[in-house]
Amino acid sequence: MTNTLLINKENKIKESYYKKVKFVTIKDLENNDMQIEEETYKQFLKLQEFLKTIGIEVGIDSAYRSEERQLELYHEFIEMYGKEYADKIVAPVGTSEHHTGLAIDLALFANGEYLDADMVHEDQEPIFKELHKHLKDYGFILRYPEGKEHITGYPYEPWHIRYVGEFVSKIIYENNYTLEEYHKDFSGIILVNKEKNMTSFDVVNEISHLFGIKRVGHTGTLDPLAEGVLVVAIGKATKVVELLTATYKEYIATVKLGLKTDTLDITGTILEEQEVPEINNLEEIINTFKKTYLQEVPIYSAVKVNGKKLYEYARNNEQVELPKKEVTIKEIELLNKKGNEFTFKTLVSKGCYIRSLINDITIALNTIGTMTSLVRTKQGKITLEDTNTLSDIRNNNYKIYNIDQVLDIKIIEVNESLEQKIRTGQKINNDFNIKDKVIFKNKDNQILGIYEEKNGILSVWKNFV
Ligand code: DAL
Ligand code: ZN
Repeated sequence: MTNTLLINKENKIKESYYKKVKFVTIKDLENNDMQIEEETYKQFLKLQEFLKTIGIEVGIDSAYRSEERQLELYHEFIEMYGKEYADKIVAPVGTSEHHTGLAIDLALFANGEYLDADMVHEDQEPIFKELHKHLKDYGFILRYPEGKEHITGYPYEPWHIRYVGEFVSKIIYENNYTLEEYHKDFSGIILVNKEKNMTSFDVVNEISHLFGIKRVGHTGTLDPLAEGVLVVAIGKATKVVELLTATYKEYIATVKLGLKTDTLDITGTILEEQEVPEINNLEEIINTFKKTYLQEVPIYSAVKVNGKKLYEYARNNEQVELPKKEVTIKEIELLNKKGNEFTFKTLVSKGCYIRSLINDITIALNTIGTMTSLVRTKQGKITLEDTNTLSDIRNNNYKIYNIDQVLDIKIIEVNESLEQKIRTGQKINNDFNIKDKVIFKNKDNQILGIYEEKNGILSVWKNFV
């Protein structure tokens, strides 16, 4: 399981952490009792076994350390190596990753003894370098890599590994991140094919847990009954959620006639049933909905009226006037009709409820009906083919897109002087003839910000640096 808990000089361990984890007691190299987080140990054993097959033997020099032990260690280091080195390498009490039980100091076993893991030994380096390549396969990362002292706060420690779970260890390895950088910089868009019986929030929640990142959002809710394209944004990419939501969406929906439910779909309580009259003009009626009109928001929705969500009114049996919103049905096409059921495809603007559209169609047909299935097949330029199911994603079969790959906005690569202006949020002359929004990137392909045209000049809409 993913665990990206960040403990460093700025982020101390909290007492509440210990309620959430399970520790096991093992023996250290001197046969004393030592504690370690359960999954970390299980994965360490697998790593240890694998390393043996490539001729590397490792043991655990140190795993969980209490605050008392960390202080003791600090004094031992002062004794052995002097205060300067101790201050550099031993974390201040309360800020050591060893307090989590997720960190391990490895000791290499060579020539019949364990070599200590207190400082970098040149002769051990080739072995550590080889070992580091395999950490990711067991969910570990090298926590204090070379050249990242200014980020982690510690010099290179080839022996100190940290369990984050296999899903994240791979990302960190491939991107050459530190855990600090992962939290700060990892961002992007994941295109999910949501399955039935899950809320959009369930999807977001699972992705958030999988990546160990709190800042995750989705664009355009899909009800539990609905399947298909659900665009999920991670990290800084959540800044463009509203742009992704604003796009046109394509759906394929199935309707059952002769039945009316409170939620306007088949998951609701049946309010009414009636004989379906003979309908000869279905296609004709459907085609009349290719228009812009004021659509009534369904009562079972999260739209707020006087600060309260509509479905709360419904649950409390309270009267409320349903708001109407302008929606555009850009395209609509009957796909098939079988008995009392028919299926249609439609391309609609932001905020259009297909359940409501169906309700309106059935009224126009002089009958009643309810939605029995809904698949979102497109959102903006994203199609179902671009998506992955949650189970694909869990199995590392997914792609993280940059926001410029999923947004339909002009992208401009800027020179260094413009980059400086953008970095400081300054306004820019509209020499690019931008009519709405523009994504500015630098020559390293880094997104600097999204600007917006206003009164002939470009100003910041969202900053990314
Ligand atoms: N040596 C690492 C930073 C610690 O003391 O936790
Ligand atoms: Zn350590």
